[in-house]
Amino acid sequence: MLPPVIAPSILSADFSRLAEEVRAVEQAGADWIHLDVMDGHFVPNITFGAPVVKALRPHTQKYFDVHLMIAPADPYLAAFAQAGADGITVHAEAGPHIHRSLQTIRDLGKRAGIAINPGTPATAVEPLLDIVDLVVVMTVNPGFGGQSFLKSSLETVSRVRAMIAGRDIRIEVDGGIDAETVRLASRAGADTFVAGNAVFGGGPAAYAERIAAIREGA
Ligand code: DX5
Ligand code: ZN
Repeated sequence: MLPPVIAPSILSADFSRLAEEVRAVEQAGADWIHLDVMDGHFVPNITFGAPVVKALRPHTQKYFDVHLMIAPADPYLAAFAQAGADGITVHAEAGPHIHRSLQTIRDLGKRAGIAINPGTPATAVEPLLDIVDLVVVMTVNPGFGGQSFLKSSLETVSRVRAMIAGRDIRIEVDGGIDAETVRLASRAGADTFVAGNAVFGGGPAAYAERIAAIREGA
């Protein structure tokens, strides 16, 4: 297993002070920064696009884990790469040519991620394992922060873990991760943990303690 990664999602940060929030979670021990891009079409919510990723890039050296909840994704991949994404994740459900999208991300020199919704079987990622660096198992239905962790996703995590075998691919869980649910996800085989509300919910003074509590269960 790869060493655990804790990736606070800025979806739950104070959007009026994003740069400060990114610096604060970096100081508090975050490994990656998770950036949730939503288009109001693939998911019922709108967040931000590549210009915000670009604006944040000078404020931290941390790995930018860009989660695209948009369809189509292909027309925007180059913009997110140029904006400073380190990894770009697309959804298996977002279009008919997901293999091509992943190939494009690799061709742009970025790490490629494939995400699956709670209603999508683990087998959807099987034909893609040779061209991905990250499999994101959604542990809520994507669109909003602060939702409850779906335990039914744990079986998907276990199945993906078995499929990955010895490959150098991370399994990320995204949605409803806190100091308790992180343990379940870790036991099922996840090594990368996105947390929005569980990190940002308590205000800046608590970020370090909250990240440490998640790391403890990872
Ligand atoms: C859900 C997003 C998640 C979300 C996680 O659509 O992809 O990254 O921000 O937030 P919490 O941890 O609050 O569920
Ligand atoms: Zn996300």
